[in-house]
Amino acid sequence: MAVLVTGGAGYIGSHTCVQLLEAGYDIVVIDNLSNSKMEAVRRVKELTGKDFAFIKGDIRDSALLDEIFRKYDIESVVHFAGLKAVGESVSVPLRYYHNNVTGSIMLFESMQRNGVKNIVFSSSATVYGMAEKMPLREDSPLGAVNPYGRTKLMIEDILRDIYVSDNSWNIILLRYFNPVGAHPSGRIGEDPNGIPNNLMPYISQVAVGKLKELSVFGNDYPTPDGTCIRDYIHVMDLADGHVKALEKLREDPGVVVYNLGTGKGSSVMEMIAAFAEATGIKIPYRITGRRPGDAPVSYADPSKAEKELGWKAKRDIIDMCRDLWTWQSQNPDGYGD
Ligand code: NAD
Ligand code: WQD
Repeated sequence: MAVLVTGGAGYIGSHTCVQLLEAGYDIVVIDNLSNSKMEAVRRVKELTGKDFAFIKGDIRDSALLDEIFRKYDIESVVHFAGLKAVGESVSVPLRYYHNNVTGSIMLFESMQRNGVKNIVFSSSATVYGMAEKMPLREDSPLGAVNPYGRTKLMIEDILRDIYVSDNSWNIILLRYFNPVGAHPSGRIGEDPNGIPNNLMPYISQVAVGKLKELSVFGNDYPTPDGTCIRDYIHVMDLADGHVKALEKLREDPGVVVYNLGTGKGSSVMEMIAAFAEATGIKIPYRITGRRPGDAPVSYADPSKAEKELGWKAKRDIIDMCRDLWTWQSQNPDGYGD
């Protein structure tokens, strides 16, 4: 029996593949490499010393998916494949709806045709929209504020509807907070295309000399130092959460939602300070205006995952910065061309 990992060449997918292989799972990976490189797959194999089938293809290719389900003995699916840039989703919404929503529907249809009814889905804290009450619990009000977030809410709803129609499905919706860091070996990590949108990859590219200075998007928020607060979570902790979720699927849980966060918020200034503490590198920065759409504060209540999955984040922001720097300094150009 194997686990099909969609989007397994990507940032979170590659780290999860390592942890699944280390936990003894057989995996099959499908990825169209639209936002990732084959080198990541090669390094997952190198790190674990294990081989697995990699299929370069799109989850919107039904014939290909059916062929994979027929050929391999797939027990469950971990579904990462999707586009994830919030700003881009505003400019090209149809690409996001088609890739993420149509792609997911085609995957679920193929699962249904082939009798595979166990899935772990990559949702996001973005589904809580501009919530004001912290910490965010799984039952906090939902409401996405951009096309990317709406694709996540739609896919969550589609999966809930599938369960209502056939309760032999088992569905785990994991809402990730802000994944950062890298495998401690520095062999795999986040390799954004072009100039990073997200804080920590931006910081590490300033540190390695590829970018001049960080723009801090606003210091007039109602927070202690005026900069936004987020719940940064080490990608290895997130990967471990997927191993726990797959174990949970074996208990026939129906549809369940879990926040994967640390429960601790850190401001932009605290992340700059943590990076300096972990690496000795001071990041030059400039305070600029607010970025439209940023919530002042967002952090999880992760207690449900601890209680029901036996999962808790173990790594702190110093670990996140150190491991990010090991990756970035050893791979200044990411996986290269
Ligand atoms: P990523 O872009 O590194 O990985 C996604 C992978 O999916 C890429 O390798 C890409 O090539 C592949 N892919 C995209 N569309 C595909 C398609 N139609 N068919 C086949 N492969 C396809 O992103 P990530 O950060 O690893 O995110 C993984 C998942 O987690 C995504 O669904 C994302 O929305 C979600 N998520 C990410 C974050 C984050 O901040 N990184 C936070 C919350 C949720
Ligand atoms: C963090 C903080 C910025 C860049 C995004 C998505 C979310 C989820 C995770 C997928 C904010 C500040 C950033 C910079 C800065 N992804 N910042 N200068 O926006 O919390 O979440 O990734 O589901 O959907 O929106 O993460 O890393 O972009 O920003 O000051 O150059 O850093 O204002 O306060 P965000 P981020």
